[in-house]
Formats: sequence, C-alpha cells, structure tokens
Amino acid sequence: MATKTGINGVRSVHFGLPDLEEATRFYEENWGLKAVSASPDDVYLRGTGRDFYTLALHRFTEPRLLRIDLSIESREHADALFASLRDAGVETSATVAPLDDIGGGYGFSFRDPDEGRVFRVIAESKQHAEYGDEADRPGKISHIVLNSPDREAKFFVEQLGFRVIDQSKTITFLNCNSDHHSLALFISKSSSYNHLAFAMRDIDSVMSATGSMTEAGHAIGWGVGRHGPCDNVFCYFVGPGGFIVEYTAEVEQVDESYKFKGPDEWGFPKGRRDQWGLARPTSAFHAPETSVPFSAALFGE
Ligand SMILES: [Fe+2]
Repeated sequence: MATKTGINGVRSVHFGLPDLEEATRFYEENWGLKAVSASPDDVYLRGTGRDFYTLALHRFTEPRLLRIDLSIESREHADALFASLRDAGVETSATVAPLDDIGGGYGFSFRDPDEGRVFRVIAESKQHAEYGDEADRPGKISHIVLNSPDREAKFFVEQLGFRVIDQSKTITFLNCNSDHHSLALFISKSSSYNHLAFAMRDIDSVMSATGSMTEAGHAIGWGVGRHGPCDNVFCYFVGPGGFIVEYTAEVEQVDESYKFKGPDEWGFPKGRRDQWGLARPTSAFHAPETSVPFSAALFGE
C-alpha cells in the first residue's frame, strides 16, 4: 500500500543531546542497537533490519529532535516530490541530489509548517546485506509520534500523500505502507517530539527486552500493554535527554480495504488506557511526553 508520492516509511531519526556518551551507552548496551559509525560528536546506530542506520545521535546543547528521514520509492519520486513541495511554497534544501551521509542515498530536506520541524526524503539508501529479525533486539523504526496542533494533518495528507488511517480522541494516525501507521500526530497546543517506536520480532521480545531494561536500572514509563488503534503491544521508556522510546510488536498490517474509525469509535472503559489494563503511565512519564522541542540545525544537510 504505497502513497501517491512514493513515501513508504520512516527510515531513521536524528536526536540531538548534550551527553552523547550516556546516550550511546543506553542505546547500545541496553536498548539493543549497534553502532555503525561513531565520532566524538555523531553516533549512528542500526537495528537488525536492512536500514543502514535507524537512529543517529548528535552532540547538541539541549535535547532536540533534529530530523526525521523518510524513505521514498525511487529517485524519480524524490524529484517529483521536491518539485511539488517547492511549487507549494515549502522551504526545501537547494537541490535534490546525492546525499553527503554515511547512509548514502539521493534526496533533499524540507521544513514543514510546524515550528522548527525538519524532514529529509531519501531514495536508494545504503542497506545492509546481513539483516533479519533477532530475539530481543529492535529491527526497523516502526513509527514516530509528534505533538502537534494540526488535528487534520493536512500537510502530510495533501503534500506527502499519507492516509489518515484512524483517528482517536487525541491522535491522528498516518499510514504510508502495510504497517497501520508510520507517523502519528498527538494533538497538543504546541509542536514537539512525543516518542519513537522500534519494531521488535514478537511479544516475547518486547517482554524480555523490557526485562533486561529494568534489570539494567531503567524503569518502565508505561507498559507492557496493547493499544487500541494499531492493536500493537507496547512498552515505553524515558531515554537519555528525555526522549521517550518504545518497543513494539504485532503492529496491525493493513491494506486498502482497512476501514477508518474516528474518535467516537475508539476508546476504553473508564480508567483504562489500553486493551489489557495491566499498567498505567507512571507520573514520571508525563513531562517527557512534551519536553523535547524541534531544532532545524540539520536543515539543508
Ligand atoms: Fe507508539
């Protein structure tokens, strides 16, 4: 199920944070990623999937979400999207061209209408020859959730070709491949980062990776549970810099026949926040949900 623009997933995400060493330890030793490149100010980490890297950590004065990399089907699609965004008056990098990036590829970056938010569109990314699901380790990026006042997600639908697949009272879910959603907007007064989800092989991997995290001294922020829309199993942690990250599995697979449901059709019995009702978000979980703003520092790179 492809979008009309050819955008077909979130390939990687770039975090900026002051303590790069602490963050690298967290993601390598506890979260389950592996570094593919590391310099004093930039660390690139991969999951077990094909993507050359899924998470990039950059030394930065304050915790900031620096960029979201979207994958697109082909160079031709990248060229066409570059032209249509410029026609629509969207601020883009100067050209669509081969990228100077350890993950290779061809594309461009742009700033969308929300304050400071930067995306990059990438075709023909470098991919690992060795890949595959592994127990207890993240594979690819499953989805990213952003806080935004933009309930209708007009820019994502009209300019980027995402489909609003479901809408709960608080979240607009956006689809661009067979996963229920790759991007979602959590409706709030201002724009910021909410969380990033990594796909795990199965529920067992979510459970046992969660066990290893707690053994390493990282308390669960919320979970383990099962969401309503997407029907996925989740467990959230607050990582270094206040970036919330999620292990997820059993993401609902959809096609064109999937029927949208709106805010009146989603909901849990009073007091419940997920299908199982085993865990509630901890009080330590709420502040980080809106604590990381965007920065356009990587725009144009
Ligand atoms: Fe999520």
